[in-house]
Amino acid sequence: MTFLNPKINLKKYWKKKIDTLIWQKKPNKIIEKKNNRLIWFPDGKLNVYENCIANRLNEKKPCIIFVDQNNKILKLTAKEIDYKVNYLSNKIIKLLGKNFRNKKIIIHSSASLLSTISILACCKLGIHFSVVFEDLEEKAILNRINLFKPSLIISRQIKKNFFIKFKKIKLIKRMKFLFLNEINFNIKTKIIIPSYKNNSDRNLFTLFTSGSTGQPKGIVHSSGGYLMYSKFTTHKQFGVNKKTIFLTASDAGWINGHTYSLFGPLTLGATTIILESPMLLLRKEILMSIIKLKVSIIYLPVTLIRLMKSIYVNFKINTKDLKTLGSMGEPLAPSVAKWYSNFFSLGKKSIINTYFQTETGGIVSSPNFKETVKNSPHGSVGKPVSKFINFNNLNSKKPIEINIKDTWPGIMKGVINGQNFFKNYFNKQGNFRLFDLATKYKNNIYIHGRVDDVINIRGHRIGSAELEAIVLKNKNIKECSAISIKDELEGGSFVLFIVGKEKKINEYGVKKSIFSSFGSFALPKKIFYIENLPKTRSGKILRRVLRDIYENPKKNNLKDLSTILDKSVIEKIKFKILNAR
Ligand code: PRX
Repeated sequence: MTFLNPKINLKKYWKKKIDTLIWQKKPNKIIEKKNNRLIWFPDGKLNVYENCIANRLNEKKPCIIFVDQNNKILKLTAKEIDYKVNYLSNKIIKLLGKNFRNKKIIIHSSASLLSTISILACCKLGIHFSVVFEDLEEKAILNRINLFKPSLIISRQIKKNFFIKFKKIKLIKRMKFLFLNEINFNIKTKIIIPSYKNNSDRNLFTLFTSGSTGQPKGIVHSSGGYLMYSKFTTHKQFGVNKKTIFLTASDAGWINGHTYSLFGPLTLGATTIILESPMLLLRKEILMSIIKLKVSIIYLPVTLIRLMKSIYVNFKINTKDLKTLGSMGEPLAPSVAKWYSNFFSLGKKSIINTYFQTETGGIVSSPNFKETVKNSPHGSVGKPVSKFINFNNLNSKKPIEINIKDTWPGIMKGVINGQNFFKNYFNKQGNFRLFDLATKYKNNIYIHGRVDDVINIRGHRIGSAELEAIVLKNKNIKECSAISIKDELEGGSFVLFIVGKEKKINEYGVKKSIFSSFGSFALPKKIFYIENLPKTRSGKILRRVLRDIYENPKKNNLKDLSTILDKSVIEKIKFKILNAR
């Protein structure tokens, strides 16, 4: 397996980048094979907090800026953050006792000042943490607790409310709880907790994937390899430096909320803006406050960009500070990319349409900040981020499964649900599977949706992304999702869910654009006009949920709904489908 036997050149490439991180013991080795997996910088020792905050204590400028839902803006220097982190770290040590470094912590919070301080305290202490979405139901949290086995849960909620909602969690033996709102973070503590020395391979965090595949999986990332890759991709793709003011609108419980809200920009000495919720950007006054902060890079989920497109009509932003735009999480249809670019007056520059997964730790392919739409057109995810991210042979016509031939430092360490899960990630050739369909045209890569979202009609394979991009070109359509379904006559077919007012949408126009792009065989079996799509908190469309509802609208027990943002959406869609039958 070439993956497990990396080429010398690959090792040399990453060896040259060793000095981009601060090491407590500089590694001599780049990669070591152990128990059928690769360990990055195996003899290196470092502390992630030291790389992010502790080396910036003399800076005068803000390191992190928080914007809350009341449009209150809080600017914190590294020194101010350090006080809070020391204070919290001390509390954690007291709660966990002597053996604290070998215990694990769940951080139960959305993006907030306090969740960030909690993450940073875990990094300082070298404690393996996992951020879980605040809105999860008790069953879903219990599921994650059983897999992750934490000794402490840190929550932003009020103790009384937490225990009313989570009765079973309260009863877990030996579980400790820490309620952040009971701590007075304004005390300028004299306590100084050291940034502990950690092996490069030490577990940094586990993140449960967004659930768009149906089964939550706990993806584990290391300290050294992951941090190296976060810093490398943030610098290379976005051009982040010490002067950058970077807004990543992502929930803390998502890989973007780790790699590009925190670790990437912080290790590069930049200022990162964290929003209490990405949805705040739908409020003009908050959007304008962020522009006033002289933000230089804006990086948003595609689903949010689509909503902004439907809200911000006849209004444009033009600021000399904003240099780069990025998108995440979903395919970025060219029509949406064009609007995004025009709205922020970015001219011909490419959108950094970032393609990656929780499993890859950071971006594997995207345009970079220097490119223009001429060489990296809207809709593409550009080129691989390094010459050592080699994809399999993609072609320009037929979307095929994309995978990666060689290893990279940001790759997950493993999956906590077991070794088999990890093995499933490799195909027969030993390449790392990404489970998406892709094509390559003029050196740029295009993602066509998940392998299981492919729409197969009379032998023609069309990715859901491709269809959705065509539909989104129609005016008055805010969002849409194409779902493949079984069809006895055709073998396969699809239905279309459109967000927008039926009366205002020219259905003939929608069908005509599908017809002229693909042919009559690709016309949808049915179109449903709905108020909202089922989405995760991080803004990903739950296509499998739509398929489940369509196939069985009377069924009550849909598969894992733990990550869904708004459950009421489901009942409304069921009602539409049943009414149409
Ligand atoms: O299907 C791809 C889609 O999101 C999946 C990864 O989801 P998650 O692990 O939650 O990580 C999100 C990190 C951005 C991918 O397998 N996806 C992600 N980015 C893109 C994308 N699909 C199309 N274009 C993208 N830029």
